[in-house]
Amino acid sequence: MTTVGILGGTGPAGRGVAIRLASAGYDVVLGSRDAGRAEKSAAGLRARGSGTLQGAANEGAASCDLVVIATPWDSAVLTVKDLRTQLADKTVISMVNALVREGRELVPLYPPRGSMAAQLAFALPRSTIVGAFHHLPADQMLDLDSGLDGDVVIFSDDDAARQRVADMVDEMPGLRAVIAGSMSLASAVEAFTAVCTSINIRHKVHSYVKLAGLKD
Ligand SMILES: NC(=O)c1ccc[n+]([C@@H]2O[C@H](COP(=O)([O-])OP(=O)(O)OC[C@H]3O[C@@H](n4cnc5c(N)ncnc54)[C@H](OP(=O)(O)O)[C@@H]3O)[C@@H](O)[C@H]2O)c1
Repeated sequence: MTTVGILGGTGPAGRGVAIRLASAGYDVVLGSRDAGRAEKSAAGLRARGSGTLQGAANEGAASCDLVVIATPWDSAVLTVKDLRTQLADKTVISMVNALVREGRELVPLYPPRGSMAAQLAFALPRSTIVGAFHHLPADQMLDLDSGLDGDVVIFSDDDAARQRVADMVDEMPGLRAVIAGSMSLASAVEAFTAVCTSINIRHKVHSYVKLAGLKD
């Protein structure tokens, strides 16, 4: 079975992805700047499936077959730069959104290359970047009884890599993969997270993305 590492995996976003991957049977390594913190974090998660959850330093997570970046936006590029060698020739999933809070809203920031996925692709020229998981609410991801029934919008310039990620997402409980297209959609996908989060703040809800009209 494919192993999946999560950089910054001790945060709510990384843990939410981890528990649903392990519940789908994947062996997951939560990465952290502090291996002890990651081990504690992994021990606190209860997946329901044959997959395993372990904690390690980010270097250990980066050694997995597939790697998810789940750090805050302003540390993502710095984090992966130190792990270029481990991440070379791999599919690397970015769920990173560059957002800033202004009053009751979150507003998108546009990095120099237009999106965090593009920044990460530039920082990791030997890796294949796929965007996924941007719009998911961490709390519902973490609670396997939340009734989550969400769509994961996926983009990449590499057909095989995005299909591989889509196949993995479709195995995760409560999620459906929707391939949107290429990296040119990255800034729109990331920025839409600001819309989702602002709706949740304004309406005091935990809504998420579910697209209508797709064929199953
Ligand atoms: N929260 C959500 O609902 C959600 C949903 C979809 C996507 N996202 C995206 O997922 C990413 C993570 O979100 P989050 O809410 O889990 O973030 P977070 O809790 O603020 O950070 C996640 C982890 O990143 C590590 N980290 C923090 N500062 C760092 C730094 N300066 N350098 C390196 N690592 C650092 C920390 O792990 P260690 O201290 O253990 O190293 C932390 O536990 C963000 O880019 C966010 O936009 C979030």
